[in-house]
Amino acid sequence: MNATLRAAIRTALFRGVKVDGILRGYAGMIAAEFQPLSAGSASNIIQRGGTILKTSRCDEFLKPEGRANAAQRLKEAGIEGLVAIGGDGTFHGAHDLWEEQAVPVIGVPGTIDNDLYGTDFTIGYDTAINTALDAIDKIRDTAASHERLFFVEVMGRHSGFIALDVATAGGAEAVIIPESCEGAQEIAKLIGYARKRGKTSMIFVVAEGDECGGATALAEKVSELTGIDYRVSVLGHIQRGGSPTAKDRVLASKIGAAAVEALLNGESDKMVGEVNGEICFTPLPFTWKKKKPLDTKLLELVRILST
Ligand code: F6P
Repeated sequence: MNATLRAAIRTALFRGVKVDGILRGYAGMIAAEFQPLSAGSASNIIQRGGTILKTSRCDEFLKPEGRANAAQRLKEAGIEGLVAIGGDGTFHGAHDLWEEQAVPVIGVPGTIDNDLYGTDFTIGYDTAINTALDAIDKIRDTAASHERLFFVEVMGRHSGFIALDVATAGGAEAVIIPESCEGAQEIAKLIGYARKRGKTSMIFVVAEGDECGGATALAEKVSELTGIDYRVSVLGHIQRGGSPTAKDRVLASKIGAAAVEALLNGESDKMVGEVNGEICFTPLPFTWKKKKPLDTKLLELVRILST
């Protein structure tokens, strides 16, 4: 997010436009927590995780009155256009603000989940999968030495993008995601086959949003079926922090700059994304209504490559 901010701030200033940062997302908009930003405000932030502007989840903004208040605060501060960085929650709010209050808004896909239609990758995704991969590589050391079964839970709310890529790159035995219907029975069978072939340690990557209830619930069911001991590791919020990868910084720089250019060209209610290396625009509602395809062939590939 900081790399995006840097790109947006510097592009706007380069174009002769004043920039304010809004602290704590929509909550800060309602409370008029605006902060003038200079070129110096963007110094030394490209390598930092999180966001210097801070963020929050805001219930008041879910209501039309909250959005009307926010629009009023923007008007009073002379803010004429908005770059909204976030995921589907941020985009729902941004779309409503445009529809109800005619505040010009351009969305920037900033979420580790990669679950937005209209961009090949969201900003933060590459950093998150590399962090999770590093953790899995370390867990593998214990799994191998102690001849253990590990169930590793990764983030992704309702989607399996993180799990699928991390399982493939981490050489996991299987990946369990909301988009597929694999359950404890299948995993138990897989363990049986693998043990017959002499495997003594295994890693299963589980997406937090899976209907089996996450890694802990799945591991218990599998253990009941197999009688085998296991360990669970929930990676959690470490996946949302840390210095961004080069790939994320480049994507954030391109999209942050393009968002400002789009606002200056009079565009609104669209998300800037990158598809096949090209900057493109998608109406905000499509980003959550249309389903971004997941490469489900990887599910089978993970299995084949782990035999
Ligand atoms: O949407 C991004 C995300 O990191 C999800 O992967 C995760 O489920 C959620 O946010 C966690 O949110 P919170 O920090 O509010 O618990």
